[in-house]
Formats: sequence, C-alpha cells, structure tokens
Amino acid sequence: MIDFRAQADALSEKLIARRRDLHRHPETAFEEVRTAGIVADALRELGLEVQTGVGKTGVVAILEGSQDGPTILVRADMDALPIHEENDFEYASQTAGKMHACGHDGHTSIALGVAELLSARRDSLAGRVKFVFQPAEEVGRGAQAMVDEGVMRDPRPDVTVGLHLWNSLPYGEIGIADGAIMAGATVFHVKITGKGSHAASPHLGIDPVVCAAQIIGAFQTIVSRNIDPMDTLVISVTKVNAGDTHNVIPQTAELTGTVRAFSRQVRDLAFERMKTIAEQVAAAFGCSAELHYEHLTIPVVNNPQTTEKLRSLFLTQPEVTRLDVNARTMGSEDVSLFMDDIPGVYFFVGARDPQQTEYYGHHHPRFSFDERALVLGTSLLTSAVASYVLSEG
Ligand code: NI
Repeated sequence: MIDFRAQADALSEKLIARRRDLHRHPETAFEEVRTAGIVADALRELGLEVQTGVGKTGVVAILEGSQDGPTILVRADMDALPIHEENDFEYASQTAGKMHACGHDGHTSIALGVAELLSARRDSLAGRVKFVFQPAEEVGRGAQAMVDEGVMRDPRPDVTVGLHLWNSLPYGEIGIADGAIMAGATVFHVKITGKGSHAASPHLGIDPVVCAAQIIGAFQTIVSRNIDPMDTLVISVTKVNAGDTHNVIPQTAELTGTVRAFSRQVRDLAFERMKTIAEQVAAAFGCSAELHYEHLTIPVVNNPQTTEKLRSLFLTQPEVTRLDVNARTMGSEDVSLFMDDIPGVYFFVGARDPQQTEYYGHHHPRFSFDERALVLGTSLLTSAVASYVLSEG
C-alpha cells in the first residue's frame, strides 16, 4: 500500500493557502459561487471531467481510472455560516456577518488535495473517484439538491467516504465509530388554537398558552417514557410564540423545535407520539392542535465492514495517536444522503487548535482549527479511497 503521508505533506503549503483563501471569502448556503469556481478550476487543471451547477452551486468531478473497478464517492461541503468572525487572524473573513466557523473551508481544501494526489496515479487506478463538492450543508438542503439532480446515478457509487474536522478531539485523534454516528434532524411546528379573551376573564376564552405549556412538558415524556432507554432521542422546543400584550389571552400559540434520533424507527415513534400528545392534550384543554414536520436529514450511519477496513488503515499512520471508536453526536449532517443504502464511512479528524487557550467549538465566532489536520485529513482520505481503487502495491 502506498503511503500518502509524504505526498500530503508536500502539499501542505498549498492546502493551507487554499483553506485560508476560502476562509477569507466565506459564502453561505447556495451562494458558493466563488468557492465553486475555484474548485471547478482546480479539478479541471487536474484533468478531471467537471460538472458545475449541480444542486445550484455544487460541483461534481469524475477521476476515471485506467482500468475498470468500483466507484468511490468523496464528499466535501463548501458552505460557511451567517456568523460574524471575531478572530483577528490575517486570513479572517473579509465578509461581514459570514464566516467559515465549521471547517468546511478545510474540507474543500482537503478534498482538492485528495483529487491532486490520486490524479497523479491515474494509471494505477482501477475504478473511478466521484468528487462531490456540496453546497448548503449548514441548512441541510445541499445534499438533497444534488441527489435530486442525479448525483447518485451514472455512475452510482459503491462506497461513500467523507470527513469532518472535529474540534472536540485534539490533533492526532480520529473519531470513527460503527453504525449511527450523527443524528437525523427533523424540524416541527405545532399550532394550537384556542379562543381569545380579555386576560381578566379567562373563563370566557380558551387559553392556548396554558395548553402550549402542557404540550411542551408532555413532549419530554416521550424521551423518558416511550423510547427504549437504550435508544437515544432529543426533542427540543426552541421557539414559543404567543400573544402580543399583557391583557389579552391570544387566540393561538405556536411551537417550533427539532427532533434528533439515530434511527428512523425512533424518529417515527417520536412523531407518532407527538401528534397524539399535541392533539389530545389540546382537546383536553378545549383547544385544537396541528403538528407539521419536515425531515431535514436522515442519520449518518457508518457501515461496519467499511469502518473496520479504514480503522486498520488509519492505525498504520504514525500521526494517528488514537482512534475514538465511540465518537457520536446528536448533531446532524446531510452527508447521510450520499450514504443511504450505500456502504460508507464518515469520520472525524481531531483538529482542536492548540493556539487557543479557551475552547471555541464549531459554529462559534472564534472557531479555528489546527491546520496540521489538513495534511493528516488529506493523507487519511487519500489512503481510504486508494484502498478501494489503487491497483499498485
Ligand atoms: Ni460542519
């Protein structure tokens, strides 16, 4: 097996320069025009067949090997967040109110690094690599937009791999767990309708605010009473809207929130119960309630065989000091759509910035990461893909 460490190391300056350039010019969901342009140019320069405008601002490129073999999908996300950067690096965001605060600038740079290393070995590739540079991960819609435009067809990938720079782990540690590692996310709304009245005469109305409070509390019993204690579920009501002033009982109350689960079964059970609770608690209070929801992402599920294969590969890299085989989060990621019904692995590359005395996590205005992880990420991702398609020693 070829050791890609030295090659990735030789790309170090380029990986960092590219990441910093993207960091200076962050673009949010479906507006990644400059970023997509840079990605497409770099891939064309490597001689890849490039398709742009996939799912609005996404880029797909195929690296075709010299012999036939499997198709491996490599996914990177390109979007930034609507956050105003508080770092004062020389390469800090130059766009007010926008920032790469999750590391997607790094993911884009890493995937371009992988494309460069593998395209240099085209003659020894048996199969092909499909590079997918995705827009709008942060709003959970970019992957779907690309899937809707056929990214999983012609050719359909046999395996999907991807990574996330991960600041809860230090440099050198890799999070790579089996099974569900990130939750599916669903957004929900409940509209409760009662009957408005003067606040001094509650008996003449039907108060939707009191009813909403009961529903919020009752939702939490789904987690504690309905779900198998060995399963995991989060139900968070994050927005409560009702009324305009102190002396009027409003006509309606509205709740918004998110549900996170590691399986569709748990998620579906949660919604079955939420509907019953919303409607029947409301009825008990003389109100009516309507529950609406939209599944944004499905859980990210690592295939056990593929995961095991990559773990043994990563353990041979001296820079990898520890594999965290329990790395899981209730956060969500729409990479799951590229792994649906296809064996895949999504892993976390430890990247906590040792320069920062205080810890600032992903999506914080002072987020930053250890740039050594760009080299390690490139070498691990290249090795992972090569283990499927590289025919030489
Ligand atoms: Ni992210």
